[in-house]
Parts: sequence; C-alpha cells; structure tokens
Amino acid sequence: MMTPAGADRPAAPRPRVRPDLDGLPLFRGRAAEGGMIGLDCNESPFAPPVAVSDAISAAAGELNRYPDNAAIDLTARLAERYGVSPANLTLGAGSVGLCVQLIQIACAAGDEVIIPWRSFEVYPAIARTAGAVVRRVPLTPEHTLDLPAMAAAISDRTRLVFVCSPNNPTGSAVSRAEVERFLGVVPSDVLVVLDEAYAEFTTGDADPLDGFGLVRDRLRQGRTNAVALRTFSKAYGLAGLRVGYCLSAVPVAELLGRVAVPYAVATLAQRAAVAALDCEEEVRGRCRHLVGERERVRTALLDAGWDVPVSGANFLWLPIGSAAESFAAHCRERRILVKAFPGEGVRVTVGADAENDALLAAAGQFAQVGAVDVVRSAPLG
Ligand SMILES: Cc1ncc(COP(=O)(O)O)c(C=O)c1O
Repeated sequence: MMTPAGADRPAAPRPRVRPDLDGLPLFRGRAAEGGMIGLDCNESPFAPPVAVSDAISAAAGELNRYPDNAAIDLTARLAERYGVSPANLTLGAGSVGLCVQLIQIACAAGDEVIIPWRSFEVYPAIARTAGAVVRRVPLTPEHTLDLPAMAAAISDRTRLVFVCSPNNPTGSAVSRAEVERFLGVVPSDVLVVLDEAYAEFTTGDADPLDGFGLVRDRLRQGRTNAVALRTFSKAYGLAGLRVGYCLSAVPVAELLGRVAVPYAVATLAQRAAVAALDCEEEVRGRCRHLVGERERVRTALLDAGWDVPVSGANFLWLPIGSAAESFAAHCRERRILVKAFPGEGVRVTVGADAENDALLAAAGQFAQVGAVDVVRSAPLG
C-alpha cells in the first residue's frame, strides 16, 4: 500500500482545525469482506426486487445529468403513500443524512441533544460535530428506552431528542401510547425525532408506534415539534443506494432543504425507491419472512440458555457483557460477522435462513467451549 503523501517529512504546523473534534469516534461501518456472512449491519439479505434492478438499469443512461434536486416523483409517491402533502416531506442521503440535517437546524454550539443509550452509535458523533453537548439517558434494565427519564433530562439548553424505536442495537420498541405520553410533557419548542429505521419489522405489536401516523395526526392538530424518519435501507433492501425520508412541519422541511447537501439523493436512488414502492407487497412479504426467522432464532437461543430481549427489528441483541468480543471473534472464525459492543453485548442481524442456521450453530459451539456460564451470568446491558 502507498505511504500517505508527506508522511515521511518533518512535522509542519497543522492546519487550524477544531480542537473539540479530538477524540471524536470514527464510524467504521461495513468494510466489504469476501466470503463472510454479514450479520453485522442490519441489512436485508434479499437482493432488490427485479423491477427495482430494472429501474436502476434504465436510469443508468442519464447519469451525465444531475439528479432532480427536489425529487419530485419520489416525494409525490411518498406523500400519496402516507396521506400528507409533499411539502411535509424531505428526502435525504439515507435517514442518517437527515439526522445530521436535523441537528444542524436545531443546534448551535453548546446546545444539548438527548439520546437514549445505548442506541444508534452515530447520534453522539453527529451531535458533537455540530458542537452540541450530548446527554445520554440509560436504557431500562429491560434494554428499552426510558422515556420518563429522557423527559426529565430535558433542560433549557435542550434542542433535540432522539427517540429510536425499534432501538438499535437492542431491538426494543416503544408503543404509541408511551410516545404520546412523552410528547405530552416535552416542551413544544424541543424537536423530537422519531427514528423508525426498522418500523416495518414491528408487525404484530399491540400498539405499534407508527411515528409517521403519529406525526401526521399531530401536524393536523397544529403540533409541530415531532418529526419521523424512515429509510429504504432496511425493509426495502436498498442500503447501498442511500435514501431516507422525513415527515415534519413545513417550516422544518424548508430548513432541512436549506442545509441539505445539493443533489444528495442520487438519480439511481430516486428511481429505485419509486420502483420499490411499486413492489410494496413483495417487500412486506420479505419482512414477514424475516420476522419469522427472527422469532425462530430467538426461540432457539432462549432454549439454549441465552438472554435475548424481545426485538421489533431485523436483528437481535445478546446482552452478554464481557463475553461480547470473544463471541464476535468466535463467529468471525466461522466466517460470520456480528457487531460487538465491548463489555455490553452483541447485535446479530437476521439474515437468510441458512445464514441464521450458521449463526445458531456458532452460538451452540460457543456454549460448548465453556462460555455458556459467561453468557448466563453476564451483567445486563
Ligand atoms: C436507528 C437507525 N437510524 C438510522 C439509520 C440510518 O439508516 P440509513 O442512513 O441507511 O437510512 C440506521 C442504520 O443502521 C439506524 O440503525
């Protein structure tokens, strides 16, 4: 590999960059590794539906042109799908792009962002990048968002609160009634972001959050401080194209547009997402299958003595504490990638049936090599 330019020269004064970014965690994400079973990124194991691949191929001849910056077709389709005006919708480069924009419009240096913890690992980094102060509110012992504690953590400096449901990495979902109670006590000038990246996998819940429905109902009542995020990355299997969407009040959508990176949602992403909406039945069937697999894997692990919280997402959380890294290494030796959170646990994506079988076999072998006691006695969370 080539040495980075200048690495062999004496140190010259560094450009003046922000000292408060020292120590900012680096998001590593997926590094493609051939021949591995990737259960570490909560992706769909299904290739996009044929109609989606066809739409991508058809758009390839137009790539000399910039994308439609307003994404008129996709926005109109989503507006129709959710019964809202296009003016209430913003598209982004993945829902993570929208998380960044939401922080940009709400927070100046020193303002506070409240997040549940542990939750989506990107939240603290993007908040700190904006100069905001991150307040982490621990999950309950059942690995669920502690909404009353999050409400109690709000101060005069709080500008934004992330509510991640189902929560990454624990899979726990909060109900609509719980979120309504929470919103009832949050000051109306604090932006609440309902991050529903995995909403399509919560089928069967008695009182599912459906943040899009909740935000729409609130907007009709003139209540504007809650927004909801969804993505084409998970249920729709388009993680490689980067397209997410946000439902908000019109002034919030307008501000999101102002801070957007120009042309952030590529033409291929827009066309693929429109085609994916045409295949919603197929997508729903795939989600049902993954939910079935999730329950099969969870039951098998529970039967084998593992602690596995209920999940409403396309992944399971194994709160194995100090055994997290050794279990991930054990899986890697068997060519399976899982996501370890050192000292806390391991997140395992629900993959294709055979991949899930491989994971169960690896978990069984881990128990046989004497680690099952570690698994059973590990501290929660
Ligand atoms: C909770 C949560 N929100 C948002 C995202 C971002 O998804 P994307 O940017 O692919 O839409 C993820 C991705 O893993 C996630 O887990």
